[in-house]
Amino acid sequence: MKPIEAYVKSIPDFPEPGIIFRDVTSVLQDADGLRLAVDLMQEKLAGIEFDLIVGPESRGFIFGVPIAYNLHKPFIPIRKKGKLPRETVSIQYDLEYGTAELEIHRDAIQKGQRVVIIDDLMATGGTNEAMISLIEGLGGIVVKTVFLMELAGLKGRDRLQGYDVDSVLIYPGK
Ligand code: PRP
Ligand code: MG
Repeated sequence: MKPIEAYVKSIPDFPEPGIIFRDVTSVLQDADGLRLAVDLMQEKLAGIEFDLIVGPESRGFIFGVPIAYNLHKPFIPIRKKGKLPRETVSIQYDLEYGTAELEIHRDAIQKGQRVVIIDDLMATGGTNEAMISLIEGLGGIVVKTVFLMELAGLKGRDRLQGYDVDSVLIYPGK
């Protein structure tokens, strides 16, 4: 079996010059890569007690759901604005250019519930920071975030101090 890093194709100059894009689709399109990625992320939750998994649209869904299914936990989607049908709470956050808005159903998390966040990638950490605000705003306790990949050069961890953040693969650059 190959190591997980062997499944990640790195695309230079995408989406713009100077950026190396770490492509999660190259992991997913190989059955062994998909299984290994889910298994390695799930292993990071060994010994963690929690009630539910939250994942952001869209790449967070890819890994959040199989892990929730395997561990028999609920999966709560955080979606881009305007997609959730019931009462929501939302948060705006800054992207490199402009802003984005994420939403969660207001009844999805009860006060005191222990929450794990799953996503494919940490870049600036802005998405994770916004998700933490939404979850804590509903009274949830974020006990851990697991990423498949982390771009350490963007220093996302600096924004997430005090939180348990774990990544299967850490790339030193951006
Ligand atoms: C990507 C990635 C993470 C986020 C990381 O999602 O899937 O969720 O960016 O970036 P950050 O740490 O700087 O916030 P994107 O918003 O591109 O949407 P997608 O998952 O729908 O592709
Ligand atoms: Mg995403």
